Amino acid sequence: MQLGNRSGTLVLLVSVFTTAVVLSMAVDAKTDSDPYLRPHTVPAPADNKPTNERVTLGKMLFFDPRLSGSKWISCATCHNPAMGWSDGLPTALGDGMKVLERSTPTILNTAYNKLQMWDGRFRSLEEQALGPIQADVEMHKDMKALLKELAKIPGYVELFEKAYPGEGITEKTLAKAIASFERTVVSTESPFDRWRMGDGKAVSVAAKRGFELFEGKANCVVCHQGFNFLDDGFHNIGLKDNKDDGRFAKVPVKVLKGAFKTPTLRDIELTAPYMHNGAYKTLDEVVEHYNNGGQDKANLDPNMEPLNLNPQEKADLVAFLKSLTGKPAEITIPRLPN
Ligand code: HEC
Ligand code: HEC
Repeated sequence: MQLGNRSGTLVLLVSVFTTAVVLSMAVDAKTDSDPYLRPHTVPAPADNKPTNERVTLGKMLFFDPRLSGSKWISCATCHNPAMGWSDGLPTALGDGMKVLERSTPTILNTAYNKLQMWDGRFRSLEEQALGPIQADVEMHKDMKALLKELAKIPGYVELFEKAYPGEGITEKTLAKAIASFERTVVSTESPFDRWRMGDGKAVSVAAKRGFELFEGKANCVVCHQGFNFLDDGFHNIGLKDNKDDGRFAKVPVKVLKGAFKTPTLRDIELTAPYMHNGAYKTLDEVVEHYNNGGQDKANLDPNMEPLNLNPQEKADLVAFLKSLTGKPAEITIPRLPN
């Protein structure tokens, strides 16, 4: 079963903007030249540059359970900021408490993703946002009814007009506002980043050794690359008893059977359980999986091989992964308009 497989047709021109309004950060030359540090610019489509009004509106919509059929589930129910923008569950709980087949990924740094979802079926955040609202198994809300209801809330009428003057309350403006908010959810400075910027004491010796393994003997870097630790690619890493076709359902090429999008490792300490099916509860279990070169070897990615790590090396890798936890972002829950 797939969630909200809605193929939108928004034409998006990806451009780069300085997030002066939203993030108000000075662009630091060192940060922008180190591939392991998050660029201060966040990409956004030309027709949806973020403004304070758009982000404010999008944040309200993200936290508003009235976007669901039950009026009980918001985006934040599953993408909960208190839990690393995920839900702490092996797989998500949807409309009517239905247990879904895939885990809730974080929305952290999704602004930088080339493709969205575990199987990459959506391109942009705008296209993605309309999926879960209408999916029966997620928020189960009729779009036409929702747009009518929003238009009856004077606070929203005013906010939409400020954010998208003259464009009205439509599917497009709804999606654009939510996406604008999501683009502000980016990783914050972690001990690893402080180490990259020259503070030798920011991380433990174990974490430093772990990073060396990550780039060397353990070869994690072949898939988890750059500041966001991903490659915008899909791989079958040999999870046990996985019956989900993953990317293959979208692109039926044999190597993609059971392949899923490489997820970010930023704030990874906060988003257990791990993997598209929530197979592992801890980072130690994840490292053990890789040390074994995966479990199910059918259609395994060629870069998955047993690693022969000793207990110290496994612990070092975990210490490194934990050094990617950023400073807690200050999130205020908005009061919703009525
Ligand atoms: C019932 C729980 C649930 C709700 C509610 C929900 N999501 Fe999700 N979200 C998921 C799951 C599960 C996935 C992965 C599904 C898949 O890959 O097939 C996902 C995937 C995503 C992704 C892709 C992330 C990535 O790295 O590929 C984004 C972005 C996202 N959701 C945003 C939203 C927004 C915006 C809303 C509200 C309009 C929302 N979600 C509502 C559970 C939920
Ligand atoms: C062949 C590519 C590849 C290699 C090599 C690789 N990974 Fe992954 N990694 C992935 C993919 C793809 C997933 C998601 C798989 C799934 O859910 O089916 C993943 C998932 C993870 C997760 C869970 C993320 C989450 O949010 O659930 C962690 C942690 C992780 N990898 C760490 C590592 C470490 C540490 C190494 C090196 C020992 C490594 N990976 C090597 C591709 C790879």
